[in-house]
Amino acid sequence: MKDTDNTTSHKSDEYDSQIEDIIPYYSIFHREIINLIKSLTFEPKNWLDTGCGTGTLVNMARDIFPRTRFYLLDPSKGMLNEAQKKLSDMPADCLKLLKPSPTQNFSQKLEDKMDVITAIQCHHYLSLGERKKATKVCYNLLNEDGVYITFENIKPLTREGIEIGKVYWGNFQLARGEMFPW
Ligand SMILES: C[S@@+](CC[C@H](N)C(=O)[O-])C[C@H]1O[C@@H](n2cnc3c(N)ncnc32)[C@H](O)[C@@H]1O
Repeated sequence: MKDTDNTTSHKSDEYDSQIEDIIPYYSIFHREIINLIKSLTFEPKNWLDTGCGTGTLVNMARDIFPRTRFYLLDPSKGMLNEAQKKLSDMPADCLKLLKPSPTQNFSQKLEDKMDVITAIQCHHYLSLGERKKATKVCYNLLNEDGVYITFENIKPLTREGIEIGKVYWGNFQLARGEMFPW
C-alpha cells in the first residue's frame, strides 16, 4: 500500500487521475446523484458534501445549481486543498470549505440547515458504531425535508459472494491497466 495523506489508497494529488481505473461506474455515481437532486421538488439552497475528496461532485453540480451554496467537508487536508484548487473560480458565497474533520466528529456550527447532504464512498471506512454516529450527524444538520444521499461499498453476505466480487473488480481494474494493491 502507498503511504497516503488520506484514507484512500491514492495520494490526494494523484486521486483524480487514478480513481476512474479503480472504481467501476465512479463518474456515473456523480451524474446519477445530480439527476436525483434535479428531480426534487425544491432547488437546494444549502448542500453539504461530506467526504468531498477532491471536489469532483461539486464541480459537476455547480453549473446545474448556480444558486446553491456548497459546503465541503473531509478529514484530509490534502483532499480539501485539491478541492479548493479545482473550485477556486467559484464565487465565495457559493463555496464554504469547512475545517478538516471526519463526519462522525464534526462539530462546527453552521448558520443554515442543509437541504441536501451527500456522503459518497466515504463512510464505509468506519465501524458500524462510527457509521451510525456519522449518519446521525448528517441527519441533525438537515432541514426537516432535507435529503441525505450516501453510496458505500458493501460486503457480500457469503464467502462465495466476496470471491466473485473480487474477481469482478480485479477484471475491471486489469482491463483498465490497473491493479489495486490488495
Ligand atoms: C473514495 S474517496 C471519495 C471522495 C468523493 N466523495 C468522491 O465521490 O469523489 C473517500 C473520501 O472520504 C474521506 N473520508 C474518510 N473517512 C471519512 C469520514 N469518517 N468522514 C468523512 N469523510 C471521510 C477521505 O478523506 C476521502 O476524501
